[in-house]
Amino acid sequence: MIKDIILQHIEKVKNISATTKEEIENARIEYLGKKGVMNDLFAKFKEVAPEERKEIGILLNELKNTVQNKIDTLKETIAEQQEALQPKEDFTKPANAVSLGSIHPLTTVRKEIIDIFSRIGFTVAEGPEIEDDWHVFSALNFPPEHPARDMQDTFFVENGREDGNDVLLRTHTSSVQVRTMERQQPPIRIIAPGRVFRNEAISARAHCIFHQIEGLYIDKNVSFADLKQSLLYFVKEMFGTDTKIRLRPSYFPFTEPSAEMDISCTICKGEGCNICKHTGWLEILGCGMVDPNVLEASGIDSKVYSGFAFGMGVERIAMLKYDVKDLRQYFENDIRFLNQFAGVI
Ligand code: DAH
Repeated sequence: MIKDIILQHIEKVKNISATTKEEIENARIEYLGKKGVMNDLFAKFKEVAPEERKEIGILLNELKNTVQNKIDTLKETIAEQQEALQPKEDFTKPANAVSLGSIHPLTTVRKEIIDIFSRIGFTVAEGPEIEDDWHVFSALNFPPEHPARDMQDTFFVENGREDGNDVLLRTHTSSVQVRTMERQQPPIRIIAPGRVFRNEAISARAHCIFHQIEGLYIDKNVSFADLKQSLLYFVKEMFGTDTKIRLRPSYFPFTEPSAEMDISCTICKGEGCNICKHTGWLEILGCGMVDPNVLEASGIDSKVYSGFAFGMGVERIAMLKYDVKDLRQYFENDIRFLNQFAGVI
């Protein structure tokens, strides 16, 4: 009986459990293909007696719809399963860029200088920025009439002390030498980084606020040769092993003998260029053997101990290292300038 056949097919179709595209396609061909079950049944439908036609026709349509629905549902299920297997996010995509600040070039250079000297036993010492005459001038052997004491050169704090120990903004970090020696007996081996202040007109080459690093080494039998070797080590670490140094006699009240140190030009390697004004040399620091008067003023026996000192400007070293032409750029906080140093350290 055709009716039973159709009813069996309806049950069978409901239970089709195809799980791949091929299996679904095979089921579709089996039922809806040219030589498939549906066409076969429709052919047989012609032989159905007229009084049964209505019922069989409805059943045939039901079978056809059941087949179509089943195939659609199976296809959907497969599509959903495949989508579930796809990762929702593309984990290979690069992250959104987050713009971070960069370390200021003066900070980088200060840190580098500290690192170099710490490798040969120097530790960091600090002192106040608001100082007094004793620690900035008198204890460092500046005579009373020295021009540095002039208001033209130094920022004094008004209504300072009446005993002549004026209060002022330190003009150099050499004051930290005095403070260290006052509280500590040798051996002393310190570097003192810090901000200093001078009453200067601001230009490409001068500023009223800048940074220095002072060095001090006091022990028995410290010689000028120790000074020279320490500075040579620093220069080779900072500017490269092929850099040369040259010491020229100079004068500072707190050292005797005193010298200024040049390095072979970092740009032209001593050939002569605009940066070194065609001399092949660049001045980078002042130094010398600590004057016995300075040791005595700070309570250290100059017959037992000797030592050397040096002082350098951080801005100057950074200018040479990064070829910065105008000192003011360090303080303007122009993001285009600062960005160049992102990733330097
Ligand atoms: N204090 C000096 C200055 O500001 C730099 C200096 C020179 C420091 C010679 C020293 C030194 O310790 O020995 O120009």
